Amino acid sequence: MSEILVSGKQFHLRNARISYVFELVGDGIPAHVYLGRRLESLNSPVSQLFCGAQDEDYFHNTLALEKLPQEYPTFGHGDLRHGALDIEDAFGGNVLDLSYVFHEIVSGKPALPGLPASFDQQGESKTLSLVLADQKLGLTVTLLYTIFNDCDVIARSVSVKNDGTAAVRLNRVMSASIDFEDSDYSLITLSGAWARERSIDCRKLVCGIQGADSARGASSAQRSPFMALTRKGTDEDCGEAVGFALVYSGNFSATCEVCMYGMTRAQIGINDYQFSWLLNPGECFQTPEAVIAYSWEGLSGMSRAFHTLVSAHIVRGAFAHARRPLLLNNWEATTFNFDEEKLLKIARRGKEAGLEMFVLDDGWFGHRDDDHTSLGDWTENPRKLPTGLKGLSEKIHAMGLKFGLWFEPEMVSKDSDLYRAHPDWCLHQKDRTRTEGRFQLTLDMSRADVCEYVENAVASVLSRAEIDYVKWDMNRDMSPVGSALLPKERQRETAHRYMLGLYGVMERLTARFPKVLFESCASGGNRFDLGMMYYMPQAWCSDNTDAGSRCLIQYGTSLVFPQSTMGAHVSHAPNYQTGHITPLKTRADVAMCGTYGYELDLNTMSEEEFAQTIQDVKYVKAHRDTLLYGNLHRLSSPFETDLTAWMVVGQGEAVVTAIRMYARPNALTQRLRLKGLQEKADYLVEELNLCLSGAELMRYGLPLDFPAGDYQSLRFTLKKL
Ligand code: DGJ
Repeated sequence: MSEILVSGKQFHLRNARISYVFELVGDGIPAHVYLGRRLESLNSPVSQLFCGAQDEDYFHNTLALEKLPQEYPTFGHGDLRHGALDIEDAFGGNVLDLSYVFHEIVSGKPALPGLPASFDQQGESKTLSLVLADQKLGLTVTLLYTIFNDCDVIARSVSVKNDGTAAVRLNRVMSASIDFEDSDYSLITLSGAWARERSIDCRKLVCGIQGADSARGASSAQRSPFMALTRKGTDEDCGEAVGFALVYSGNFSATCEVCMYGMTRAQIGINDYQFSWLLNPGECFQTPEAVIAYSWEGLSGMSRAFHTLVSAHIVRGAFAHARRPLLLNNWEATTFNFDEEKLLKIARRGKEAGLEMFVLDDGWFGHRDDDHTSLGDWTENPRKLPTGLKGLSEKIHAMGLKFGLWFEPEMVSKDSDLYRAHPDWCLHQKDRTRTEGRFQLTLDMSRADVCEYVENAVASVLSRAEIDYVKWDMNRDMSPVGSALLPKERQRETAHRYMLGLYGVMERLTARFPKVLFESCASGGNRFDLGMMYYMPQAWCSDNTDAGSRCLIQYGTSLVFPQSTMGAHVSHAPNYQTGHITPLKTRADVAMCGTYGYELDLNTMSEEEFAQTIQDVKYVKAHRDTLLYGNLHRLSSPFETDLTAWMVVGQGEAVVTAIRMYARPNALTQRLRLKGLQEKADYLVEELNLCLSGAELMRYGLPLDFPAGDYQSLRFTLKKL
């Protein structure tokens, strides 16, 4: 069981596998002591390192704070590294002396007001509230720590309350900060761009500040709200790794500051660039939640911890553990050029292939025949849909398919009735050009009236047709950022208030329509984060559906996210984004490691391809629980070799996938060693008709006899005997 032990000034959070320890020093400053494998006890007070530390004022009267590993550092008393909290008081001062006031320990995991956050329905986790205060300012800072029972994760967040008499400006409020005693780490981040999301970057820590951030208004495709620190020699299966991720979808920073003494300060939270928040007396600011995974079993251990967290403590609702419908989306088949007849023809063929849901993508509303118009006007285009969404959804349902629909609710086109009626409803700054992205502007979700409009517009469509699934898209970053309703001293709150508004809308819509499966999307994977996952169990990984590119994208994504969250579809070859021609089998094999579907008109397939598609769909149905919810093991990284390989291990079976990018003449057959099997159990490898023990499969491996040609894949199905 997870527990939180308090002995004297020491706080020890632990579960069966990990421990997190800090203690109070001086006049009650929380000093970081340990994050690692479980300890029974730790009798080595940090203050012993400092002679004079017994004196309550020692840390404020000397420059010793700079040498103290801390839990939530501030600025102003000798610690010249970046603090976790940076304020400006009524006199322009920035000194903050936070010291212990009291603490509370409860079972379970409290929700965070207005924000997505991990939860614990079983109540097996323990949560500590550590209340600190700056008595002079009357600022109360509560550090919340949760230790989970079933995954090696600590959740942290912070609330700042102004109990004083004057307003305080918050310029920086990190969700978590940890000082590690040395800097002998490598830093892993996930970076990329549209169509190249979440590439694994790894470099050795150096002196100074390094990390990942976004100031784009979305968590972004450019850099994910995640970083990991790994020890020298850490690989996929061995060695220490500490992963940090943020349960948030907006601007963030995740940084490591290596100081002159070689210590590493790791911090994650809302990006302080272009951010500030005015806190009037009586007001409280809540940060998003940071989740920190510790593993001594390499990156796979870190990913296991995150995957369990996501499945058990982030994703909610009826679909959290349910089978997801195998879908057919018309976007790459038609883009904006469709009518009801064309859609029904595509859907009918999908049904013949065994698919379970038809999704109508962009272009069904207003007079949207291209991307220049109509966002915000969420009424059907009668020319394309003469019987409306109601009629279309009924016809699709009559075929025995579910019906899904695309929205981009946070956006407005200049050419729309909504914009003509409410030109001040978009993010903008007075007398400045309203920069368009994909010919659209971003609605100002920091405003209650805009949120109400968005919620009602989506709800009205969901109520008047039979809609089982919503693809919630968002296709541009925020720029310029500003709100017509906020006073000048609060303009820099806009981006965070936007997220709060958006989360509020999502909370209400998902509660009002609990049977609807929501998939988040943002130009593909521009907002693939734990915040979105709290409302929407799956997310479109990338607009790049090329199987070769997807190997990299899905492999990188899997560092944090399980396959049940990754939207992955088979699309046309040559691929629209890369021009690559990949075999249909490879496209299907890659998409199977995600929420499976198709992005093409199956009517355009040859009979042979269609027959294969029927077989692929049958295969996914037969193994869907394993493919979706089995434990994912990465076997070979496309970031390091030409071979991508992973496997998922479920109840009594496993599916192994290997993709080789380029054919190599005159090469020996490679062997692939498997993972996650039971050593002593026997397994039938169906495709090879071979019976091997878990030990043989994991130590000796399977031969990879790829067919000739580039982008070939192999799939093996293992049945436990
Ligand atoms: C971007 C999405 O990622 C695509 O899948 C598609 O829905 C388009 N938007 C539609 O505009």
